[in-house]
Amino acid sequence: MGNKKGRVFSGARPTGRQHLGNYLGAIRNYVALQDEYDCIYCVVDLHALTTLSDTDKLHEWTYEMALDWLAAGIDPEQGTLVFIQSHVPQVVELHLLLSMVTPLGWLTRLPTFKEKVRQQPENVNYGLVGYPVLMASDITLYKADTVPVGVDQAPHLEITREIVRRFNRIFGEVLVEPQAKHTEFTKVLGIDGEQKMSKSLNNHIEIASAPDEIKRRVMEMMTDPARQYRSDPGHPEVCNVFTLHGFFSPGEVAQIGTDCRAADIGCVQCKQRLAENLAAYFAPFRERRAELAADPDYVWDVLAEGARRASEIAAVTIAEVKAAIGLP
Ligand code: TRP
Repeated sequence: MGNKKGRVFSGARPTGRQHLGNYLGAIRNYVALQDEYDCIYCVVDLHALTTLSDTDKLHEWTYEMALDWLAAGIDPEQGTLVFIQSHVPQVVELHLLLSMVTPLGWLTRLPTFKEKVRQQPENVNYGLVGYPVLMASDITLYKADTVPVGVDQAPHLEITREIVRRFNRIFGEVLVEPQAKHTEFTKVLGIDGEQKMSKSLNNHIEIASAPDEIKRRVMEMMTDPARQYRSDPGHPEVCNVFTLHGFFSPGEVAQIGTDCRAADIGCVQCKQRLAENLAAYFAPFRERRAELAADPDYVWDVLAEGARRASEIAAVTIAEVKAAIGLP
């Protein structure tokens, strides 16, 4: 790896085709970070098991997500590592070792854990409690010093840092304490205009969609609820369609805002423009995706090569950790 600012690690659970929320919240940052950092991006299939009862989609969802990443510009040719978490099994070993220096209270008091307990009271499994420890294992196994986080993952990164400090205090300076890189956190609402965009709520727009599918979904979007009639002045600041124009219609967003406020443009027309701009914005992405998908082995080959290189880093760390602990 070259002489960059440091090493970034990030992981995402395999959720299949990525949507606008994934794109604005993660993927475009992943792509941009490659210029300044050595980057490692991981499909965290083991983390997915903490909430998944139905595992038969894992294979397909891993493939589709990785294909979106690569088509969007995550680029192994630049040295970026892309791989599947479970393909480097040392992470499981490190997870167990780090669990020994992690007080249970740190984990059970986390708001994210409490939220999961509310969501799946019938499945509060041991792995779920250890979710942040597995995340700490991801980050420290690859000696990442920088982790891009939005507000939702910030407490998990704090726990990683605390685990590292504790481990190093007890066993010596072995693990790298990662810094959070607070990325501009873009919370994208779904087509319902209320909840965060997510596949599980089926309120999402996939970035790989064909233009007619994009249009169909955009036309379903909720707009400013206070605007009932075409002649009512609109409030772009509370309209999710307008928020998306801000990202995907840089040339005309100001005009659209003015026209909406003056009721010179209606919601239907506003959405048609967004659909067109989205389709155009992602046209090169769709083309690249089709090219990459033409070779069914391509994605799997990239992931295999990523795992091979990641294993080399992992082997060194695990040896250092075991020696520091004093395992015979
Ligand atoms: N916990 C992250 C999420 O739910 C995924 C993740 C796993 C991760 N390991 C990581 C993120 C390491 C950053 C670094 O989105």
